[in-house]
Amino acid sequence: MTEKTGEATSKVSLPLVIFSGKTSYIINSFEGEFHTHKGVIDLSKLKDLNYGDEVETHLGFKFKVRPFSLSDFFKHFRKGPTPIMPKDIGAIIAFTGLRPDSAILDCGTGSGVLSAYLAYFCRDGFVVTVEKRKDFAKIARKNFELAGLKNIHQIVGDIFGLADSIKIKFDLIVLDMKDDDKFIPKARELLKNSGYLVVYNPYIDATRDAYFAMLNNNFQDIESFEIVKIDYEHKRAGTRPSTRVWHSGFLVVGRKID
Ligand SMILES: C[S@@+](CC[C@H](N)C(=O)[O-])C[C@H]1O[C@@H](n2cnc3c(N)ncnc32)[C@H](O)[C@@H]1O
Repeated sequence: MTEKTGEATSKVSLPLVIFSGKTSYIINSFEGEFHTHKGVIDLSKLKDLNYGDEVETHLGFKFKVRPFSLSDFFKHFRKGPTPIMPKDIGAIIAFTGLRPDSAILDCGTGSGVLSAYLAYFCRDGFVVTVEKRKDFAKIARKNFELAGLKNIHQIVGDIFGLADSIKIKFDLIVLDMKDDDKFIPKARELLKNSGYLVVYNPYIDATRDAYFAMLNNNFQDIESFEIVKIDYEHKRAGTRPSTRVWHSGFLVVGRKID
């Protein structure tokens, strides 16, 4: 946070993050009270601060203020169904040539983590996200509000039943839901020419079905792969991997080229 970037002296805007050591909270209102583990903060005190300033709880405990970033979001999102991990989101963005103005359909909103990341990167585009369970859609909506994202259009319903009513075409469609392979013909219809389809599935058998469904539906440049992230712990005695469960899901990426 240097003067050059303007962050040290610039006034805060929402959402923002307050932190002390490894503890942090996302704040997205200047009204009311916020309860931390070290006391209560009067949120109206925040609005005249600059990034780098401190705010005190009623117990006198100090938190510093910094700008919000989506990496803060992954730590703080409300948890529902298992979200896609950042490593896999990175692959989706990199392998599909996502642009700031992309139109995206995310099938299986779940906790909304993937939708949030995609909407954040596609500032001039939008994400239509579809979830069949009302309770999960509610969790995702709270997460979108927390992250201050406005370019996400949430639909509550079964994508198999409502796909015919979607009249726009997309640059990217992601399927992270049951029976993904059965939706592939419809996904092809909903894609723009040159658009990408990504199927994310934790099971290798289902991934194989998705691969062949994409092949049979004339998708091009199909790749099926897994991204593995191994964390390391560095101690005085030496360095060793600390990741116990490294598998999250398999990705199949293909392109509609007519
Ligand atoms: C693993 S979660 C998705 C997680 C999400 N990608 C994230 O990053 O938070 C799968 C979700 O798909 C939803 N789902 C399954 N079949 C669906 C369908 N036919 N239409 C809409 N949503 C569906 C489930 O209810 C579940 O919430």
